[in-house]
Amino acid sequence: MTANLAVLASGRGTNLQAIIEAWQAGRLPVDIVGVVSDNPDAQALERARAHGLRAAVLPAALYPDRRAYGAALVELLKSWGTDMVALAGFMRLVDPVVVRAFPNRILNIHPALLPAFPGLHAQRQALQYGVRVSGCTVHLVDEGMDTGPIVLQAAVPVFPDDTEETLAARILKEEHRLYPEAIRLLAAGRLKVEGRRVYISPEEVTL
Ligand code: GAR
Repeated sequence: MTANLAVLASGRGTNLQAIIEAWQAGRLPVDIVGVVSDNPDAQALERARAHGLRAAVLPAALYPDRRAYGAALVELLKSWGTDMVALAGFMRLVDPVVVRAFPNRILNIHPALLPAFPGLHAQRQALQYGVRVSGCTVHLVDEGMDTGPIVLQAAVPVFPDDTEETLAARILKEEHRLYPEAIRLLAAGRLKVEGRRVYISPEEVTL
């Protein structure tokens, strides 16, 4: 069975691009049902349209609060038949109403080794703290900020002469590799969640 994947993105959309490319290469057992952005100017929307994908804008300013925004998001996603969601640079904390509509079916990518440096400007936080290693994390979304069970992580070195930009670029390269892989595992039903821990079952071999 293929999962119906929706991608939520606020900006540039390079992670979306990596997901689309993996999907086009036949590496993801999903149908991408559409892309939603809270930002009408998001480059992610152009990338979606360029690949013939449905692209919708849902500006938060149209809704009185986070709950109402979340409810509208759930309605839109359900109307597309979505059963799995990937947050790809979606710079907004999703309301619990969204999390509960897709329990353990929402992934997020974060540019740090969680639980270090959650929230905004993770690469800047890592540099300011002085860590020698950083990286990225794909996790299932729960009701906290970047707190859900961890699916995959990749580490990169932090060099003394790194700037926010050079570190972000090194991490981004790993993000593009890691995110499609995590989506593939969730879509294939290979993730088992027990408390905070996520177990990855081996690939079934059909003879
Ligand atoms: C990525 O680095 C992603 O990890 C980060 O935003 C960037 C989006 O880039 N997400 C967060 O910081 C979420 N807290 P993209 O639009 O090119 O995929």
